[in-house]
Amino acid sequence: MRFDVLTLFPEMFPGYLSQSLLNLAIERELVDVQIHNIRDWAKGKHKNVDDRPFGGGPGMVLSPEPVVECVEAVQQMDSPPGRVVMLTPGGRQFGQRVVEEYSHEERLLLLCGRYEGFDQRVVDILQPDELSIGDFVLNGGEVAAMVVIDAVVRLVPGVLGDEQSNKQDSFSSENRLLEFAQYTRPREYRGHAVPEVLLSGNHPEIAEWRKQNSLERTRQRRSDLLTSEEDKSGNSTD
Ligand code: ADE
Repeated sequence: MRFDVLTLFPEMFPGYLSQSLLNLAIERELVDVQIHNIRDWAKGKHKNVDDRPFGGGPGMVLSPEPVVECVEAVQQMDSPPGRVVMLTPGGRQFGQRVVEEYSHEERLLLLCGRYEGFDQRVVDILQPDELSIGDFVLNGGEVAAMVVIDAVVRLVPGVLGDEQSNKQDSFSSENRLLEFAQYTRPREYRGHAVPEVLLSGNHPEIAEWRKQNSLERTRQRRSDLLTSEEDKSGNSTD
């Protein structure tokens, strides 16, 4: 899968891209991430990419020309042209359903904004998917783009060693509950012991404990994820 990131701050990415799982996926050519500097498409001596908003107000608005021309040029660098995703706090809410949807794309262009946002004509002309990673305002779309890449690559076949592990992930289509608690050695730490059942080697009992633990955590922390009244009240559904 190919990602193209269009940003005014390309220097934010090398550290992120060199982290182990992603770096391995890139080395194994399962994932390709190309970073492009929007400023390279700015014209004039000062290579300006933004300007004051018409109608007044604080901040600067990203000008349409360098952004639209950058997106079009990057699309033409390779085929397919890719789906354009604009990171903006006003976009559709990101979540595991969107992650699954994007994981089926061959190529995604992630367009990162800064300042007070993009000139509306960028949206009118390119008709991107406008995407928000949550109800808060970041300093720019770069961290949001990393979040998107990070979540989507987990679903690219071969990226995770164990293909089961993303099916078990919380919020996946196959698991609407939060993940159960995990333990490793030592068996006891500062008076906190690992639940006995996990040491028993009894796999049906371990599976049942994990199911109950997932359900209990979901009830306590995210009851909105539960569907039936039985789930919410704590009665067993089976
Ligand atoms: N840019 C600034 N805030 C953002 C958010 N919450 N999601 C995506 N892009 C953003």
